[in-house]
Amino acid sequence: MTLSLDPSTFLLVLTGAGVSAESGIPTFRDANGLWEGNRVEDVASPEGFERDPLTVWRFYSERRANMTGVEPNAGHRALVEIERVLGDRFLLMTQNIDGLHTAAGSERVVEMHGNLMTSRCTVCDRPPFEDRTVYRPNVAPMCGPCKQRGVDALLRPHIVWFGEQLPSAAMHRLETFVNRAGAKLRFLAVGTSGLVYPAAGIVDVVRRIGGRSWLVNADRPANVSAFDEVVIGSAGKILPTLFATT
Ligand code: OAD
Repeated sequence: MTLSLDPSTFLLVLTGAGVSAESGIPTFRDANGLWEGNRVEDVASPEGFERDPLTVWRFYSERRANMTGVEPNAGHRALVEIERVLGDRFLLMTQNIDGLHTAAGSERVVEMHGNLMTSRCTVCDRPPFEDRTVYRPNVAPMCGPCKQRGVDALLRPHIVWFGEQLPSAAMHRLETFVNRAGAKLRFLAVGTSGLVYPAAGIVDVVRRIGGRSWLVNADRPANVSAFDEVVIGSAGKILPTLFATT
């Protein structure tokens, strides 16, 4: 199937862990996924961090270490090409924290769930900062500026955990784009199980405003029936040939 993008098209893309699978990064809910060996409550919730920050930092430090040598794949690169054609009529919302869309060259990308290589202080209002450190298993990193003021403050990954609000700037960017597009909106979801909201609900918004929605996924996810067109297969193979740009 080839989807034509005429010059008036507004294309909103949502990606999930499946788009990075062909770069060698495990997804969450597939066999051998990240949620097989870890409990969400323990490593991806504020309660889990409160209870045991060392376990949480071990989980994210391991994911930082596993990013060594990982490269974007053909799926990421295909989305960069489409963005070049559509310009400001393109917006990429990603649930992924691996930074591979930016590494591939995507510019109009919103990291809805944060970024793995970014940390922030749990106490002071220092802005989130780049932090690629793989912390030793028994070290929970502390905020330097706070320490200088005699305050012991833990750092945390700048990642949206379950039960936390998505960054308001991310949601505002999405809303602005959808309002601009109206019924001309075309929505493509790639590599996501459609289980985590608000990302999984974007397709319903698209339908309500009369847009058309496509899904590219390795299997039929929870919200598959909400999509107008479904292509089952791998993102790295399908995305490079999916769009015919007129
Ligand atoms: P999941 O692991 O839930 O789903 C990944 C989806 O990608 C599955 O439906 C797979 O069938 C599909 N898939 C796997 N390999 C693929 C490939 N090569 N090409 C296309 N599709 C492929 O990951 P997400 O839907 O991204 O949040 O999970 C959403 C959120 O839940 C994540 O952001 C994360 C997780 O808990 C937090 O950690 C806060």
